[in-house]
Formats: sequence, C-alpha cells, structure tokens
Amino acid sequence: MAGNAMGNHFRVMTFGESHGRAIGAVIDGVRPGIPIDLEFIQKELSRRRPGQSAMTTSRSEADQVEILSGVFEGKSTGTPICMVIWNKDQQPKAYEQIKDMFRPGHAGYTYLAKFGVSDYRGGGRSSGRETAARVAAGAVAKQLLAKRGVEIIAYTKEVAGIRARTIDYSEIERNPLRSPDPVAAEKMARKVLRARKEGDSVGGIVEIVVKNPPVGLGEPVFDKLEADLSKALMSIGAIKGIEIGNGFGAARLKGSQNNDPMFFDKQAGRVRTRTNNAGGIAGGISNGEDIILRIAVKPPSSIRKEQETVTISGESAKISVEGRHDPCICPRVVPVAESMVALTLYDHLTRQRLLRAKNALQDLRDTVDLIDTNIVLLLTERQALVGQIGALKKRKKTKIVDKKRERQILRKQLAIARSLGLDEEFTGELFQAIFNLARTTQRKVIGKARP
Ligand SMILES: Cc1cc2nc3c(=O)[nH]c(=O)nc-3n(C[C@H](O)[C@H](O)[C@H](O)COP(=O)(O)O)c2cc1C
Repeated sequence: MAGNAMGNHFRVMTFGESHGRAIGAVIDGVRPGIPIDLEFIQKELSRRRPGQSAMTTSRSEADQVEILSGVFEGKSTGTPICMVIWNKDQQPKAYEQIKDMFRPGHAGYTYLAKFGVSDYRGGGRSSGRETAARVAAGAVAKQLLAKRGVEIIAYTKEVAGIRARTIDYSEIERNPLRSPDPVAAEKMARKVLRARKEGDSVGGIVEIVVKNPPVGLGEPVFDKLEADLSKALMSIGAIKGIEIGNGFGAARLKGSQNNDPMFFDKQAGRVRTRTNNAGGIAGGISNGEDIILRIAVKPPSSIRKEQETVTISGESAKISVEGRHDPCICPRVVPVAESMVALTLYDHLTRQRLLRAKNALQDLRDTVDLIDTNIVLLLTERQALVGQIGALKKRKKTKIVDKKRERQILRKQLAIARSLGLDEEFTGELFQAIFNLARTTQRKVIGKARP
C-alpha cells in the first residue's frame, strides 16, 4: 500500500495496526558507523506511550522497542534499521459492540469506502498507536540532528481555550499536559478532566520550536521546507491546521509590521533578523533563525457522549464509544510532532549535504579546467618565444638542437618536480614532448635544410 513512507534520502516507512501483533518502522538512509542510543529511543517512546496520566488513555503499553536490523554493537551498519514495538495490551472486545457502526470523526467509513475492508479494532492503522513507530524513527533522527547542535522542543500551547502565557522549557515535562506554563497547565487539566467526566473530549494547539537549525534547508519549489514540514505534521491523526511563524496572524499585518528587519551578526558570521515573524523559513528555505510551527489538534472523536451515526449497512444508529480513549491528545502529540519535524529536517539536511558535495565537485572541476587552460596558454606563449629563438638562431647560424641546454632545463625541472612530489618519469616525458615541439617549430622557422 502506498503512502506509508516519507523522505527522499532519509526514508522512513511505518507498519502495523493498533490491535495487530506489532507496529514498527524501517529507516533507510542512515550512514554506517553512527552510534544509535537505544535508551534514548525508549525514553522518547515513554513520552508518547498511553497510560501516563488521567489526561490520556488508560491503555497500558510499555512500548518496548526492539531493533531487528541495521544496528551492530550499538552502531548503524548503513543497512535499513527495522524497529518493532509489540502490541501487548490489546482489548479488541471493547470494539465488538461498535464494530458495525462508524465512529463520527474517525476513519472507519473512509477506510471501508476506499479499501472495502476496515480493521475496526481500535481504528487499525488509523489509530494514534501508529505514531509510536514515528516516535521510534524520530528518536533516531533526533540523535543525528543533535550531533549538528539542532534541538527540537514541542509543548502544549493551548487546551480548550486556555493558553500558556509563559514559556519555560523546564516546565514542559513537569506537568501531564506538557505545557511550558505551570499555571495554565493546571487550568488546562481541570478542563480535560471535566470533559472526560462529561464523556467528551477537548482539543488544543501544540507549538514546535527548532533551535539552531542550519541555514539552507529546503528546496524550490514543491519541496519547500514549510511544505514538507506541513505534510509531515498534517499526516498525524487529529491534526487539522498548521501555522508557520506568524501564520494566519500575518494576514492581518502590514508589510512593515510583518517583515523581519535584517542585520549582519558579526559574532554569528551571518545575516540574521531582529524579529522572527517568518518562523525561520524564507522562500521555503531555512534562514537560521528558530523554526516555529503551531498545529491545531482536534478533540479526539471517540467519546462516551451519545452521537448520531450509521451502521455499515446504512441504518441510523446512536453510538457511545466506551473503552480507553484520550480525552485530550495534546500531551501525546508533543513527542510525535517533534519526531515528524526531526524526520523532515534530517531528510533535508541529507539533501543539503549532497548539494554541497555536488557543488564541491563542480568547484574542483572548474579549477582544474582553469589550470588546463593556463597550461595551453603558457605552451602557446612558450612556442611563440621558441619561434623567436629560432629566428635568432637562423641569423647567427647556430644549431637548432642544443642537447646541453635541454639537459640543463630537464635537470632543473626534475629537481622542482621532485621537491613538489610530482612524478619524475612523467615530468621527463612531458619535457621531452615540449622539446620535440620546440624543435619542430624552430625547424619551420629556419627551414628544413638546417640540422
Ligand atoms: C497520539 C495520538 C493518540 C490518539 N488517541 C485517540 C483516541 O484515544 N481516540 C480517538 O478517537 N482518536 C485518537 N487519536 C486521533 C485519531 O487517530 C484520528 O482522529 C483518526 O485517525 C482520524 O483521523 P483525522 O482526525 O486526522 O481525520 C489519536 C491520535 C494521536 C496522534
């Protein structure tokens, strides 16, 4: 089935369903010899795993990752890295009573309409569980980016209309909402718990900040960095909108307000901007400022509150979704969003490296071409002088071939070649060819009759 892989040079494919044997990811494009920290991957998975608090589903999965291939003695081998997370706490029975009904807001109807078959157990492949595989792959990309000093931080900016007013990164992992504002986090938590009690759910906004991104990531025109980041983030279930930098806010500003004034930062050795309304991307290419993204997270659709729906045979029905569902998925989306950004950035970084490599090759070839042109120009100049010498020899009636002088030149040039490490045999042959050319030229000037 197409549509399960992303990336151009750093490619990731995820597989598996919510209630199948396992889910996992295959990564292709990791260079050999790179240390892969399994503990870090596990830590990242724990940030996404269900059952972390009353804010999330009570499904209890340890999300233990197993690396099946591509890593030997802690280092990448350059071959595909396959990671598997076994499903352990499946309860497909919870879906038995609603298996013939569509959950409003979920993917049951569209999957069935498209494929003619739909795995009703937990939404199958459309389940939020699939994102565990993304987090495992993203953790690898994060490690690779960290080597370049790139850090990705996401947090819950807003839940049920309550917005974080302060941004303190150290607070994010201290509260169950993953909000950078502890005061707002408490208010958000109250809203989530109330919704859960009412058999309902709430949505919110997750903000993602990329610190220290390299300048130059992104391609014209369809693979602009913002286009690829949007696709990656919008591919997460329940994400319904994205903003970059000022986003929709830019629509209400004047150019003079929205433009980011530029200056040359001597310390950084590059052009920078005083503000960052562009969110670190201009013309689809990163400008080195923080990349700032915000995604709209819808309230999860599986709610206890009764809703109108239809059965698979088209009859009207009422549905109340029991079972273990997240009343708000923002805190679990945080590590998933970071992962999708990491996967996209690392793919673009790989493309940028290839571009640089190509440029380096072209630069070297251009220089070699210049040297070759200079060789021809110098030989032409030498020939002109040799012709003048021939004319003088004719007037003075001296011999064309002066073996003694040829030996002197050769000795001198061989000594230079030796000191520079240039092949002596080649130097000898080259000068023999040059001497022969000179003789021919002088013979032409003097006339073939002379020796
Ligand atoms: C980490 C995560 C957890 C999720 N948990 C739930 C859940 O418990 N219940 C639910 O109805 N949807 C959940 N979702 C959302 C569904 O996957 C999503 O709504 C569904 O696939 C339909 O896709 P759409 O909302 O993008 O149209 C979760 C999504 C993510 C990323």
